[in-house]
Amino acid sequence: MSFKEKLIKEKLPKHVAIIMDGNGRWAKKRGKARIFGHKKGVETVHKIVDAADETGIDYLTLYAFSTENWNRPKAEINALMMLLVSTINSEINTLIKNNVRLLTIGNLDDLPKKVNRKMNEIVNKTKNNTGLTLIIALSYSSRWEIINAVKMIASQIEQKNISVKDINNELFNKFLTTAQIPDPELLIRTSGEYRISNFLLWQIAYSELYFTEILWPDFEKEDFYEAVYNFQNRERRFGKISEQIN
Ligand code: IPE
Ligand code: IPE
Ligand code: MG
Repeated sequence: MSFKEKLIKEKLPKHVAIIMDGNGRWAKKRGKARIFGHKKGVETVHKIVDAADETGIDYLTLYAFSTENWNRPKAEINALMMLLVSTINSEINTLIKNNVRLLTIGNLDDLPKKVNRKMNEIVNKTKNNTGLTLIIALSYSSRWEIINAVKMIASQIEQKNISVKDINNELFNKFLTTAQIPDPELLIRTSGEYRISNFLLWQIAYSELYFTEILWPDFEKEDFYEAVYNFQNRERRFGKISEQIN
């Protein structure tokens, strides 16, 4: 039986987030330039968006480019930005056809104007779609997001719109870029790195973490289903004891 067939419909995570890692190493293993791995990685994005959609998951967040990734060699950054634009151009019709709603999180102002424009265009064109919500994290980092939230809350207090005693989890959430998105129940990272790399630190407080050695360009639908299957067989206790859950 495949992992896909083993999935229990009633126990699906609403939101899965993925740190797509290992493109560079995948290319290097083949004696190719890193960008070759990024291109292959786009094919995986296509497959996994499909897989999430087919499974009936509501939200899929993909970490595509971190704030720290701006420190990579200029040539790789430029190639990645070009790849982003060409991917949007080639995928826009599929997204519309599949009823996918695209959202972005991150500091889009950092992106080249052309990429920024393209992203906004596709977000706009898909905003009324009711199927899978696909969230692309671009020029995103969690500390950037949290500092931003703190600044906005401080400014609201300064303007006397809210007071210090109003600050709680719920209010803080509203100032994050993910305000309208439920927390991911499952976070996957590929490529055998066991770290979070500044991704959704607040939102993953109680997420189940799943790490796999598979490099992102080799990650197949069935690997995604395996991760979801693994998730479905965990006991999420949220601080309670087992007897209180069952
Ligand atoms: C992930 O693959 C994609 C991005 C961060 C843009 P990497 O480019 O980090 O690949 P590795 O980790 O060097 O193999
Ligand atoms: C994390 O991958 C960011 C993305 C997948 C976009 P990195 O490859 O940049 O992370 P580190 O540097 O290995 O932690
Ligand atoms: Mg990496």
